Amino acid sequence: MEYRKVALALAAALILTGLVACSKEEKTTETVTAPAATEAPAAPAAAPAPAPAAAGPSADVTLQSHDPNLSGTVHFTQEAGGVHVVADVKGVKPGQHGFHLHEKGDCSTPDYKSAGGHFNPANSPHACDPTNPRHAGDFGNITVGADGTGHLDITTTGLSFDGPNSLIGKAVILHSGVDDCKTQPTGNSGDRLACGVVSGSGAPAAASPAAGTEPMGTDHH
Ligand code: CU
Ligand code: ZN
Repeated sequence: MEYRKVALALAAALILTGLVACSKEEKTTETVTAPAATEAPAAPAAAPAPAPAAAGPSADVTLQSHDPNLSGTVHFTQEAGGVHVVADVKGVKPGQHGFHLHEKGDCSTPDYKSAGGHFNPANSPHACDPTNPRHAGDFGNITVGADGTGHLDITTTGLSFDGPNSLIGKAVILHSGVDDCKTQPTGNSGDRLACGVVSGSGAPAAASPAAGTEPMGTDHH
């Protein structure tokens, strides 16, 4: 009899403990996920981070073109859900134009073929955003209106500001034709109208492979 009572009490205690542990876990998860976006991490660190949640690394690209009427900018910003890509072009023929990140940050040849193929670190097939899998550099098409301006706003999880998927040191290309999202490996988007190199300004110490002689002195400019 005594033994049974003890056993029951033990069992009850175990169940209670389990319940408490469970509810504690749930509570912890809630507090971690919910306010993370709005509330700055309560880090007692001395560094006065200006905007810790919103401002990841970013990069600005100005497109160059042999067409003097064509201009464009591309902004890349690291956000919680991926890299936010915002592009604006003007002076472009109305319609859809293939738009990609190409593998080499080299716009030196007149046809911009110097930029190589689509940036494709995972050896994926060509497709269009948001299809997966696809080239990391596949942004799909920019739609240009009758006024010659086009705007693209996407977020991609295939790119980052460092590591194998880094967009730093690559080149943005605007094409003369439509990316059909099927033809391998280019989308058959035609000639390259404009090109812009993504330089490493926004990324902390990401673009240093060229500097072979300098030690990686982060304190120096
Ligand atoms: Cu392209
Ligand atoms: Zn592609």
